[in-house]
Amino acid sequence: MIYLDHCATTPLRPEVWEAMVPYLRDRFGNPSSAHAWGRAAREAVEAAREKVAALIGAAPDEIVFTSGGTEADNLAIRGTVAARGSRGGHVVTTAIEHHAVLNTLRGLEKTGLAVTYLPVDARGSVSAASVVAALRDDTVLVSVMHGNNEIGTVQPVAEIGAVLRGRGILFHTDAVQTAGKVVVDVGALNVDLLSLSAHKINGPKGVGALYIRRGVEISPLITGGHQEGGVRGGTENVAAIVGFGRACDLARQELAQRSGELRALRDHLLRRVREEYAGVSVNGDPVGGLPHVLSLSFGGLKAQEIVSALDQEGIAVSAGSACTSGRTEISHVLAALGIPSRDAMGTIRLSVGWGNTGEEMDKAARVLAGVIKKLEVLRDLEAAAGGRGCF
Ligand SMILES: Cc1ncc(COP(=O)(O)O)c(C=O)c1O
Repeated sequence: MIYLDHCATTPLRPEVWEAMVPYLRDRFGNPSSAHAWGRAAREAVEAAREKVAALIGAAPDEIVFTSGGTEADNLAIRGTVAARGSRGGHVVTTAIEHHAVLNTLRGLEKTGLAVTYLPVDARGSVSAASVVAALRDDTVLVSVMHGNNEIGTVQPVAEIGAVLRGRGILFHTDAVQTAGKVVVDVGALNVDLLSLSAHKINGPKGVGALYIRRGVEISPLITGGHQEGGVRGGTENVAAIVGFGRACDLARQELAQRSGELRALRDHLLRRVREEYAGVSVNGDPVGGLPHVLSLSFGGLKAQEIVSALDQEGIAVSAGSACTSGRTEISHVLAALGIPSRDAMGTIRLSVGWGNTGEEMDKAARVLAGVIKKLEVLRDLEAAAGGRGCF
């Protein structure tokens, strides 16, 4: 079995699991309780908050724990829009954001919010100049993802943040795919809000965080008790938060090495795929983009068939992005890049991560090329049969 779907989710590292176990077993206290059990849980949550903050160069009191990246994106957008006026307002974003951002904004459009969806160039990049050109007097938020989950393109977030500074507009970035893969520093990026998710960095599912720059006021999505500084009510998921903290700690300590290793593995995979099958085309920005993502198009084939055939060989990859798997429509990201539908329909995403080896890359490339050649033969036979229902 070869797992090449680390953009969808990652394995839990043993160190993370070991850190979590005590909080699933004996240290079960509620962090809000005023006794020894409660204090132990509170200390664990606050220690984890420090570790998450350290990964992105933030202060611990700027971290709000959420149920994951989706909730962090929702909190950033809905929380800003709600805090900045009851009606109207304008948000600038890009056409290639994750659905956690796009569908949230589409929903808010129905309630009177105006949204500009900026186009991207052929590599999937948006320019700071186009962001500035889209601003209006009533713009309350700009949301531009740091690294794209389908094609790996990294946006010029620091540059966009610099041009937005002093304009009274909040700037959010979704760093779910970049944290732990490349340097993510909230100061250098000039952002006010930044989303993270634990399960993309070898932590547990169902926990994430939103960085909220000190002094920035946003409204809560989930109201209840005064947990998380009143921005996110509900008893904290202590064990998951502890695991998230440990995963951030490992990611920070290993970042430079991990980034290089992932890039070497991904480049090895691409080289071997090209050797085995010259007709492949590569999407996005493999040179300047995220080190672990590879988006490959096999024109004239169907991505779902490639994914299924690889699955039968024990190799896990995605069609476009995991969120759109199972559907036949072309991914919004590939469409925004202007990739012809014949190529977009045959696009798969391979993403490497912790635990992958060079031998796995060799084998995956060999098996992938074999699968592609077989599917091409089948396709040509079907075409020759002229739809007479022979196959
Ligand atoms: C860029 C990006 N943002 C947000 C999310 C959602 O994160 P979560 O699965 O933690 O809700 C994902 C997950 O695929 C992602 O890739």
